[in-house]
Amino acid sequence: MRRIAISVAASTMTLSLAGCGVLNATGDGASASPTKGNDVTVGLLLPEKANTRYEKFDYPIIKDKVAELTKNQGKVQYANADASAARQSEQMQNMIDAKVDVILLDAVDAHAIAEDVQKAKDAGIPVIAYDRLAEGPIDAYISFDNELVGEVQGRSLLEALGSGVDTSDKVVMMNGSPTDPNAKQFKEGALSELNGKVDIAASFDTTDWKPENAEANMAKAIAQIGKNNIAGVYSANDGMAGGVIKALKAAGVTELPPVTGQDAELDAVQRVVGGEQYMSVYKSYPDEAEAAAQMAVTKIQGKDIQFDALTQDRVDSPTTKDIPARLVQVSALTKRTVKDTVIEDGIYSVDEICTAKYKAACAAIGLK
Ligand code: GAL
Repeated sequence: MRRIAISVAASTMTLSLAGCGVLNATGDGASASPTKGNDVTVGLLLPEKANTRYEKFDYPIIKDKVAELTKNQGKVQYANADASAARQSEQMQNMIDAKVDVILLDAVDAHAIAEDVQKAKDAGIPVIAYDRLAEGPIDAYISFDNELVGEVQGRSLLEALGSGVDTSDKVVMMNGSPTDPNAKQFKEGALSELNGKVDIAASFDTTDWKPENAEANMAKAIAQIGKNNIAGVYSANDGMAGGVIKALKAAGVTELPPVTGQDAELDAVQRVVGGEQYMSVYKSYPDEAEAAAQMAVTKIQGKDIQFDALTQDRVDSPTTKDIPARLVQVSALTKRTVKDTVIEDGIYSVDEICTAKYKAACAAIGLK
């Protein structure tokens, strides 16, 4: 009882000192710089809604983690740009005007947003690039190992093509948005596996990562290569894999070639189970989003030791060198690994995946 009373008194004191912003009142002795207490506002800028991960996982996980780390006193001010770089620039300006304490930025256009990053910096607001490496003077970066994502996709596609794969096998590449630096890394990672092993017969960059753009490009590839001559399709993410498969079906392809993906979106996981999509890449959103929340809160609170421990990697952007970073690992999601990935991590339940349409396919791989 006494211990509780003392710790309450101590934390009240911590709060009031921190409220004055005069010293590092976090009690961990990590830093001598002026810091804030728990009453913090984290600005969160996410890029789009078409891909379900952002609203379904990234935002709620970050929000909950910030609440947990700040004893429910901190809050997240959230804006989604709906794939518009111009809108994201406005949203970022609003956050600077509102004087949020730190900004987590997942850029629509990593190059175009650099000016706004500079404005935040000038206003004394640290910016942490989230998932995509924004240009400009960012303080840190948290993402997955994006080159590895591409390698995993490329390797899986080769695995699906089997031991008889050869350089005459025609592969279509459906890459992501050219304004997203991750898309370039996914492509490079995949090419490091595919080059010299297959024939890349057509390759597209996909505006805004939109499934309908991928579908239209796939229709062009089919017209050019021939519907029965496509051995496999590298699709950089699941949304586009959906568009690719639609185009193949619309062209009358009955035996679908292996198609890759990324993000473990629910309908893609179902396509994997049902055999329409060969694989997806499972990225643990809790690992990325919780680390982002920790980085944001420790940054504002001046807990330098914890912040450094969270950011042991280093990356370079086109404008900035040696950015403290954290790169989270990823793994392939195939029929064989559905259980050990999205189900084990509680991302989806068996019931969510194994709806009536997928009951038999689920039973065949032991999902129950
Ligand atoms: C990437 C991100 C992927 C996926 C994609 C499409 O930058 O890393 O997880 O969301 O954008 O939006």
